[in-house]
Amino acid sequence: MISKLFKLVAVLAIALIALSADGSPQEAPQSFELQNGLLSQKQFDEAQEAFEEVETPKGGLGVHFNESSCLGCHAPPSDRGLPGGSSPVTELRAGHFGGYNKFIPAPGGTLITAQAVGGATTEVKALPDSENVRDRFITPSLFGAGFVECVADETLRKIAREQAAQSGGRIRGVIREVPILEAPERTGVGRFGWAAQHASLLSFSADAYRNEMGITSVLEPKDNTFFGQPVDDGVADPEDTGGKFGGDVELFTDFMRALSAPSRLLPSDQKERNEIEEGFKAFKSIGCAVCHLPELVTAKAGSSVNGGAFRVPKALGDKRFHPYGDFLLHDIGTGPNILREGMPPETSGKIRTAALWGMGSRLLNGDPLLHDGSARSLEEAVQRHKNSAAQEAEKFKRLRESERVRLLKFLKSL
Ligand code: HEC
Ligand code: HEC
Repeated sequence: MISKLFKLVAVLAIALIALSADGSPQEAPQSFELQNGLLSQKQFDEAQEAFEEVETPKGGLGVHFNESSCLGCHAPPSDRGLPGGSSPVTELRAGHFGGYNKFIPAPGGTLITAQAVGGATTEVKALPDSENVRDRFITPSLFGAGFVECVADETLRKIAREQAAQSGGRIRGVIREVPILEAPERTGVGRFGWAAQHASLLSFSADAYRNEMGITSVLEPKDNTFFGQPVDDGVADPEDTGGKFGGDVELFTDFMRALSAPSRLLPSDQKERNEIEEGFKAFKSIGCAVCHLPELVTAKAGSSVNGGAFRVPKALGDKRFHPYGDFLLHDIGTGPNILREGMPPETSGKIRTAALWGMGSRLLNGDPLLHDGSARSLEEAVQRHKNSAAQEAEKFKRLRESERVRLLKFLKSL
């Protein structure tokens, strides 16, 4: 009887695999070295060059800025890898609590830049002690970002509803509707950045070019200030010209959209692979997968995302990918203490779920964990889960030693 059942399951599984082979959806390519097929090699090389290019004050860098290239923080995840990875570089945000415990950003905004051109005093050095609520945010990886962008808003809303249903209302990711800079008046479900502050990679590129490097473009035409005081860098705004939204901003966007999903670090030894599979089962059975979703599917090719401003291309449409995240905000007790501009009060203390894909390469590179880089090991990061994820953390603690080891092995294989 049991063996008959097994056969039936096996036949069904094969039928399912066959279905997905001819129809939809397909696996998203995974690689740190090869793009996902979105661009021709020539277009990709040009986009990569823009992402790596070191800017100078003549091109609009600064006056106040964090780094002089995207690559400066988003380094390659491995020796032969493309740029676009994570890094231990963190950014500082600050403010203070005013009357009625209302959070007030530092003058000019929560982001405190670390460098300045030509020996000007940096914000970080001049930050007044009174701006005493401070948080650091680490650089996340950009691999697979194009697939994340092409997930329909409705898919993310559905995840939040399902979390509530699965957990008796204990877990429910917060959906943040954010402006799409290139589609004025339209919003989308935020998914990029630790505060899920953007839905579109074009919007994020314009934002990062200005915030990180002090280079303005059509979508972010105002330069970085010194605590709210305008500083003229002598280059007319918008500094990134060409194309519709700025030549560089468009190339950064192309580059990120073309990055493949992170590759897994799977050992060839079958016994070890089995242990990793067991670890994945434990991960699911103690509830980690409710927030760290093992699989998402992008919208169909040809459908539109980003408030109608981006049509899902074939290379990104109808693809299954494995982020081990939900891109929604949760309060798991890790902070942050600041409340960024644009975030409603009810999102205070909430942070986007860290997507666990690429974890293996991050650990090999020695990156610390959690949004502020405050956890030194996987165990510590998991044990710090409280509030909405307290039950899961407790179950992790109670696992048999051998099961916990397998679960950690699984995480290291991502
Ligand atoms: C000084 C370091 C630094 C530089 C330079 C930098 N980034 Fe980032 N990047 C970060 C940090 C830190 C975050 C997380 C931001 C936050 O707090 O939400 C981030 C987040 C992102 C994200 C969101 C990824 C995600 O999944 O949440 C994108 C997209 C991005 N950066 C693109 C760029 C581009 C394009 C450039 C160049 C114009 C750039 N970055 C330059 C540090 C940097
Ligand atoms: C309620 C949703 C939720 C559940 C359930 C949950 N997590 Fe998380 N997890 C998060 C959030 C949110 C973060 C980001 C926290 C931060 O950076 O401060 C995170 C971060 C992590 C990190 C750090 C990743 C990194 O890149 O820094 C690991 C590892 C992790 N979770 C593993 C687990 C494991 C294992 C379980 C099950 C025991 C679990 N999580 C359950 C929401 C959840």
